[in-house]
Amino acid sequence: MDTVLTGITTTGTPHIGNYVGAIRPTVLASFDTSVTSFYFLADYHSLVKSRDPGQMACSTLEIAASWLAAGLSSECIFYRQSDVPEIMELTWILTCMTAKGLMNRAHAYKGAVAENEATDKKDPDKGITMGLFCYPILMAADILMFKANKVPVGKDQIQHVEMARDIAGRFNHHYGETFVLPEAVIDENAAVLPGLDGRKMSKSYGNIIPLFAEEKVLRKLIMRIKTNSQEPGEPKDPDTSALFSIYRAFSSDEEAESIRKLYTGGIAWGEMKQMLFEYLNEHLKEPREEYNKLIAAPDYVEQVLQRGAQKAREVSHPFMAKIRAAIGLQPLG
Ligand code: TRP
Repeated sequence: MDTVLTGITTTGTPHIGNYVGAIRPTVLASFDTSVTSFYFLADYHSLVKSRDPGQMACSTLEIAASWLAAGLSSECIFYRQSDVPEIMELTWILTCMTAKGLMNRAHAYKGAVAENEATDKKDPDKGITMGLFCYPILMAADILMFKANKVPVGKDQIQHVEMARDIAGRFNHHYGETFVLPEAVIDENAAVLPGLDGRKMSKSYGNIIPLFAEEKVLRKLIMRIKTNSQEPGEPKDPDTSALFSIYRAFSSDEEAESIRKLYTGGIAWGEMKQMLFEYLNEHLKEPREEYNKLIAAPDYVEQVLQRGAQKAREVSHPFMAKIRAAIGLQPLG
């Protein structure tokens, strides 16, 4: 039986691009009863970037509520990383098995050094914490702790999963078979959405539509999506239209076909925007209501996370005892 595990960093507000690219496929996969799945909020990873205590708590609640509102199955094990202390214990053990040279090669660290070298010749490590440097080891602990063999991630995370595999191999070689070697799973079919300006929707471009934006805000943002200067009545090309791409990411094949016909028939941009708004609003209304309910009930969300942590620790606690024994540490009293 496969064990699937993935982490969600608790920063930023999820947008509809995150939804169709990651949240929706993961929620669907969470109903697959032929696998054991672990989904967790990687709050210790977000500590690398964010040091604001209020924001830490708030982001965790928002991201947890988003995933629950999007319909995550209650069958999967959904927890917050910092509620599972065994992960931290394993992180140090793995740190001692990890070659520094391996970490030197991590893209994120190399990128930060390269940026420093370009701007400040004096200190290539300026502003770089050991948290950033060791980020892949914490991620390895997340994965290895639960013997996950399949790790669904975006392309930018493949290197980290390979590093986890490398670290697991070294440990196994030295102390005997203990960890399962994980493999990254990339969803090549995941949709990539254009943002308001037509470029890929991304927080760093400031062109996002928040997943749970209130109706009025949603409408306003959709009205801002870039189109060309074609007049009403002129036939338009759906395949180069951001409005169509967004519609398509939510619609069935039949619905998309009828919108294509409207494009050929020369639908006005304003009319298409209104249609897209109504369509998206219809799709997002229910989860938005659910999201708002959850945000207003942080104690309930906390309960769900505590229950998840309990289930996760039923796995991590006994496994940690085995790991301690393998390296020659005494069991915890
Ligand atoms: N680093 C991942 C990201 O930024 C999140 C993450 C943390 C993760 N731990 C993980 C993903 C373990 C998969 C497995 O997206």
